Amino acid sequence: MIIHTALILLFSRFVQSPWLVFSVNPPFACDPSDPATQQYAFCKPTLSIKQRTQDLMSRLTLDEKIAQLGDIAPPIMRLGVPGYQWWSESLHGVSSGGRGIHFNGPIKAATSFPQVILTAATFNPLLWYQIGQVIGTEARALYNAGQAEGLTFWSPNINIFRDPRWGRGQETPGEDPLTTSIYAASYVKGLQGSPYQGGYTPQILQASACCKHFTAYDLENWEGIVRDSFNAEVSAQDLEDTFQPPFRSCIEEGHASGIMCSYNQVNGVPNCANYTLLTQTARGRWKFNGYITSDCDAVADIYEAQNYTKTPEDAVAYALKAGMDLNCGNYVQKYARNATQQGKLTEADIDRALQNLFSVRMRLGLFNGNPNRYPPYGSIRSDQVCSNDHQNLALQAALDGIVLLKNTESVLPLLKSQVSSLAVIGPNANNFTVLLGNYAGPPCKITTPLMGKKSYVKDTRYLAGCQDVACNSSSIDQAVQLASSVDHVVMFMGLDQSQETEALDRIDLVLPGMQGDLITSVAKAAKKPVILVLICGGPVDIDFVKSNPKIMGWLSWSGWRHCHCSDPLR
Ligand SMILES: *[C@@H]1O[C@H](CO)[C@@H](O)[C@H](O)[C@H]1NC(C)=O
Ligand SMILES: *[C@@H]1O[C@H](CO)[C@@H](O)[C@H](O)[C@H]1NC(C)=O
Ligand SMILES: *[C@@H]1O[C@H](CO)[C@@H](O)[C@H](O)[C@H]1NC(C)=O
Ligand SMILES: *[C@@H]1O[C@H](CO)[C@@H](O)[C@H](O)[C@H]1NC(C)=O
Ligand SMILES: *[C@@H]1O[C@H](CO)[C@@H](O)[C@H](O)[C@H]1NC(C)=O
Repeated sequence: MIIHTALILLFSRFVQSPWLVFSVNPPFACDPSDPATQQYAFCKPTLSIKQRTQDLMSRLTLDEKIAQLGDIAPPIMRLGVPGYQWWSESLHGVSSGGRGIHFNGPIKAATSFPQVILTAATFNPLLWYQIGQVIGTEARALYNAGQAEGLTFWSPNINIFRDPRWGRGQETPGEDPLTTSIYAASYVKGLQGSPYQGGYTPQILQASACCKHFTAYDLENWEGIVRDSFNAEVSAQDLEDTFQPPFRSCIEEGHASGIMCSYNQVNGVPNCANYTLLTQTARGRWKFNGYITSDCDAVADIYEAQNYTKTPEDAVAYALKAGMDLNCGNYVQKYARNATQQGKLTEADIDRALQNLFSVRMRLGLFNGNPNRYPPYGSIRSDQVCSNDHQNLALQAALDGIVLLKNTESVLPLLKSQVSSLAVIGPNANNFTVLLGNYAGPPCKITTPLMGKKSYVKDTRYLAGCQDVACNSSSIDQAVQLASSVDHVVMFMGLDQSQETEALDRIDLVLPGMQGDLITSVAKAAKKPVILVLICGGPVDIDFVKSNPKIMGWLSWSGWRHCHCSDPLR
């Protein structure tokens, strides 16, 4: 009876709600216009999440349950439960990576914040929180517009950037466990809709964050040693002091509702099959409440790349028994049935995982009827995406994160009145793709450094100087000629995704190809000291320009305190 009243109240709220005009119905379960749903206990918001998940699971066959254990979760039509895409990304803005977000509707772009390594260099936790908030808000706007098939975002990346050659270091807040821990909690609170202060988590999550990659992961592919089979040998002390604090903070302070176990092994045990790690540490010691996904195809790796088990069924059973709930990929969906038939896995193991998966979907409000019809997130509209406030926050992050490394004789700022002609040189000067880093979405707008300079100094002349960032050949003569013909020179050098990215580590820290020669030659020919801007994620060794009096202004757009590799003071 009480439940009946609750439903009526909920319904009357729809009628009054000013945003009833929405015609789009994004995926949700328990549609009140379907009379059958009123019978289901799992549709009753007045019951506890545990009661609701138990009820839902009691209605499923074993095969229906197994089908839910992959990142593409199919619909359960007969119960009015839509399909769900678990995999979405939001590293530095809502991304088009993953499967859940589509920029093919009225919303064509999202606010793109700087790559995380730069944002971290602001050392501003409130800013990190606000960025999370904006991302969560824009994610809800996409959902309400019918452009999201899921609200579980596999961000932030909080691995410690221990090895400076790591291709994904750019995605992280850096090498310091304390900074990374604070970043993790701040971003997660913002994204999920928690207040900045205090441990309170909202009744309904704005969006779900996922702390990845658990744990001791900072290698992609270094001269044939690959992440899928790498065994990180880590001492108990290093684990506790270095690699785990961000995860602990993400869970205990941020109350993240997701974790991703990484590809690699730690001390001979694959992370996605490590009961000590997933169940005893995360759920037990840190009181983690949420779902644990594997990295994509990490369960297959346990058998195929690591040869850790004798059969695929064992790999699936180990992972689920260790505490993993979701497989990015279809390996669990494919082999779990036979694993149960072989007695390696029980239905109770599957129910344990499902309980966590459905709980998160319910905590997102996706089993309460149409979430775009009621508070707290139903009123978030498309016009909040790319709003001026959001764009200004991205600008603030960029301005505060850029690091000025050298400014001898105060060559910067370059005053407009002092520059009648300017040369902009370098392969990173006019390529907007470079500015997006990885895991980006389509940005609201984009201004390359060259475009910016042109609007500042009318007589701005441009030369890439290299064919691309690899810079195997360089038009040094042309660059020298240009440099000697203008008042000032600004060079935009550094790295891009062809040098450092997912699945690609660097093997050294020097600037690629002939970039160094180009810098030195241009500096020599220029009338005044040149300004060097490095756009990159990981650090580069720029020892060769450090004492060059012709290179005065020196900025890092990566936030990384670039390595002066022979500098004893470093
Ligand atoms: C994984 O499990 C083994 C054995 O249970 C343990 O010694 C090891 O340290 C674990 N790895 C992590 C990251 O906890
Ligand atoms: C796994 O190990 C077994 C026995 O050591 C070997 O026969 C098999 O070829 C290995 N499989 C892979 C995929 O490396
Ligand atoms: C499951 O086991 C059956 C019977 O042994 C076999 O025919 C089938 O190929 C197996 N399925 C998979 C995905 O390995
Ligand atoms: C622009 O950057 C992208 C990504 O780094 C790269 O693939 C492309 O080759 C670059 N274009 C030029 C002309 O350098
Ligand atoms: C540039 O040189 C690198 C390293 O020798 C090589 O891998 C790459 O293919 C070259 N790129 C071009 C465009 O020739």
